[in-house]
Amino acid sequence: MKVTVSRKGHFNAAHRLYRKDWSDEKNELVFDKCSNPNFHGHNYELIVSVTGEIDQETGYVIDIKTLKDIMKEEVEDAFDHKNLNIEVPEFKELNPTAENISVIIYNKIRPRIKSSLDLEITLFETPRNFVTYSGK
Ligand code: NI
Repeated sequence: MKVTVSRKGHFNAAHRLYRKDWSDEKNELVFDKCSNPNFHGHNYELIVSVTGEIDQETGYVIDIKTLKDIMKEEVEDAFDHKNLNIEVPEFKELNPTAENISVIIYNKIRPRIKSSLDLEITLFETPRNFVTYSGK
């Protein structure tokens, strides 16, 4: 019997989608407004889900306080009120699309969750647009 425990998180961040090796024209053609050289911001909403067997001793899959602390340290402290392109080392050479941000978040959290538990990241860039990554 497997149960999924989820917690929501939040951060505000600025970004610009572009490739250094493309011309301004090509960046604008592909990324449109998201390639604005002066950056733009999003209110990112995050759902981190952990799936596994219930521990018979505690009744927990994971202590949600542990998950809360991990999300704060790995995501909120690292990304909140930051310019992702300029201030977050993971995006120095990586386009900060929602897809890539979700993979980076997964890779930061994965080592801190027991390997017997499955991890899934859902990242909302807008209320209607979201991506999901579960390490596959
Ligand atoms: Ni954007």
